[in-house]
Amino acid sequence: MQDNQPRLLVVDDEPANLRVMKQILQHDYHLIFAKNGAEALRLTAEKKPNLILLDIMMPDMTGLEVCRKLKENPQTSSIPVIFVTALNDEADEAHGFEIGAVDYISKPVSAAIVRARVRTHLSLVQADILRSTRLQVIQRLGRAAEYKDNETGMHVMRMSHYTKVLALAYGLNESQADNLLHAAPMHDIGKIGIADSIMLKPGKLTDEEFNTMKAHPEIGAEILGEDDSELITLAKSIAMTHHEKWDGSGYPKGLKGEEIPIEGRISALADVFDALTSKRPYKEAWSIETTMQYMREQSDKQFEPKLIELLERELDKILAIKQQFQDS
Ligand code: C2E
Ligand code: SIN
Ligand code: SIN
Ligand code: FE
Ligand code: FE
Repeated sequence: MQDNQPRLLVVDDEPANLRVMKQILQHDYHLIFAKNGAEALRLTAEKKPNLILLDIMMPDMTGLEVCRKLKENPQTSSIPVIFVTALNDEADEAHGFEIGAVDYISKPVSAAIVRARVRTHLSLVQADILRSTRLQVIQRLGRAAEYKDNETGMHVMRMSHYTKVLALAYGLNESQADNLLHAAPMHDIGKIGIADSIMLKPGKLTDEEFNTMKAHPEIGAEILGEDDSELITLAKSIAMTHHEKWDGSGYPKGLKGEEIPIEGRISALADVFDALTSKRPYKEAWSIETTMQYMREQSDKQFEPKLIELLERELDKILAIKQQFQDS
């Protein structure tokens, strides 16, 4: 049976140092001890510690070498390593950070510092895991929402790649464009909250049904929730604003012009371009010509004029993406 105390691997060639660490940490953690680098590597693979306290000066293999090996191996690269050293050498510390250590503790160690550093780095890892788990769950929800009206999920792929092309053309930088690529797939996540009888209706929606449908941006924003991650914050903004229109006639808020954040303006265009050129339960696919005619007509109405110009200019790239992510 596994207890749920975090596992710490303590590595030091001096038995006296290991005993000191044992006294400081044994009540709160499950401790594993290694007396040299080779043993440390073997026990890391075997016991999968949550954190490693690593002496630097050891015969045979130094702590720096052990750390480098741990960071090279994808199985162990994410385990935080804290160096414990008597060397108060700044060059050595810089080197340690370069090869992936998260912190230093100098010898002779203070019990309070050891406990505080260990606690901090374990909780940082915990926060990272939570954040990435949450993001994965939300991205899968985005995919699930898409399956409700599009069996292949390809709309989400096309539409999010269109947003990246348009973002770069608009002058956003590479990392902003990539964020859009990863956040845009969640734009319709709120459709999870809409009944299939409406979502999959073969014909035109009644006013009442369409009013129900109009709740999907706010449902989406609620699902995405308050979050400190940049990506989820962006996804929430897109979910909320991808049906706003440049002239103020959109929903849910009727925002106008630059009141609509740029991610919402770009996503709206990408979403509609793809909806028009695709078959939907309620409509046939339009040709590129008919679609572009509609898009031009909607310049300064539904869409920001600059974005319609960019759509024309980048049309080759957009069509290549459409080709790459075909339904079925
Ligand atoms: P969707 O299918 O992803 O469509 C996204 C947006 O593309 C629509 O937002 C609309 O701006 C544009 N669009 C799609 N098809 C057409 C079209 O035939 N003509 C024009 N002019 N624009 C089109 P909108 O209207 O706010 O609709 C949001 C969602 O509501 C749609 O997402 C779809 O899931 C649903 N929906 C809208 N109209 C109907 C309908 O008549 N029948 C059914 N079953 N669902 C509809
Ligand atoms: C010691 O305190 O164990 C000697 C220095 C070192 O191993 O870092
Ligand atoms: C894609 O899957 O290509 C777009 C969505 C993402 O990367 O998060
Ligand atoms: Fe939508
Ligand atoms: Fe959509």
